[in-house]
Amino acid sequence: MPPFAEARVDVSAIADNIALLQERAPNSQLMGVVKADGYGHGIIAAARAKLAGGATWLGTAFIEEALQLRRAGITAPVLAWILPPGAPIAEAIAADIDLGVSAAWLIDQIATAARETGRPARVHLKADTGLNRGGVTADEWHATLAEAARFEAAGLLRVVGLFSHFACADEPGHPSIAAQLDAFHEASAAADKAGLRPELRHMANSAATLTLPEAHFDLVRTGIAAYGLNPIPSLGDVGLRPAMTLTSRIAVAKRVPEGHGVSYGHRYVTDRPTTLALVPLGYGDGVPRAATNRAPVGIAGRRFTISGTVCMDQFVVDVGETPVAAGDPVTLFGPGDDNTPTTQDWADVLDTISYEIVTRVAPRVPRVYIGTPDQETGILPGENVAPGP
Ligand SMILES: Cc1ncc(COP(=O)(O)O)c(C=O)c1O
Repeated sequence: MPPFAEARVDVSAIADNIALLQERAPNSQLMGVVKADGYGHGIIAAARAKLAGGATWLGTAFIEEALQLRRAGITAPVLAWILPPGAPIAEAIAADIDLGVSAAWLIDQIATAARETGRPARVHLKADTGLNRGGVTADEWHATLAEAARFEAAGLLRVVGLFSHFACADEPGHPSIAAQLDAFHEASAAADKAGLRPELRHMANSAATLTLPEAHFDLVRTGIAAYGLNPIPSLGDVGLRPAMTLTSRIAVAKRVPEGHGVSYGHRYVTDRPTTLALVPLGYGDGVPRAATNRAPVGIAGRRFTISGTVCMDQFVVDVGETPVAAGDPVTLFGPGDDNTPTTQDWADVLDTISYEIVTRVAPRVPRVYIGTPDQETGILPGENVAPGP
């Protein structure tokens, strides 16, 4: 019995998307960003598919995610870049995980952990060039460089990378882009002056990888585009193939008369005798409650809109006179084949971005992997890799 809902993930699409991104940044190494359970696709499967597609690096937000990769036997270079107080830094050093230094105070902590571990940490210093999120501020940059150089001389760490992150790379031409690039060049020159020799300078996310060659430097950090989703929808089709398709099947189909309120709050009322189809997926599965009366679904080759409130485990679709029965397939979103909705369609009606739509698909929905079995990925068609802990 197949699951009543599944998030099908085409690992070949992920590998192919990586290859396409590499063509866009031919002189840079490519990092596959697999944080947040591989943007909902499954961290291990996503990581393996990306490495098979040509990525030489993996990126995670947290050390715990990077350790998950190591536990799965993945030995490729991994960078983790959010290290809150209490992060298992010593464990990361022991597991050969590169560490992003996104605050001045961290350099000391990392050196202390390296001393305990008995091996030097590999660090990438993150300059805040204008995102004003993580990253060392311009005010603290010189002191941080000096501190890093001192610890490097003491054999406690090696500064292997310098990096930063854009605020508005998905808005080509935004004035902050040029300003951030200038600031990064300055930060980089200061590192040279401080005697540091990082071999990797990196700044580009997917949007910059697609549109900003001058930001490619030595490495590009691609997340969303590798999953086949375009971070700049206005670019149109750039050749990416969405990897995830979220499907379910109708659990109940029934006729109701005109004037019947549907689901909690009766936010949808039938305007004619019609057929209602119950789909057993809800906000407990990552279908936003905000999709109520808004998001599209594909049933029997046609598009309908969710009718009434999305519940925890289910929602209803008014399919009119379309003949449907329990067990019929329902597509919430995917690559858009056969007139089915895309992740971008969902993002547009929910006033969000495609990132959120795929990433919030809950662990309750089984991930089912399809695509070319590959010796490197080790993933077979239909093999179900459980989401990480
Ligand atoms: C520091 C950093 N680099 C790269 C990425 C990947 O971004 P994208 O998914 O837009 O390619 C992210 C994701 O948010 C990030 O936080």
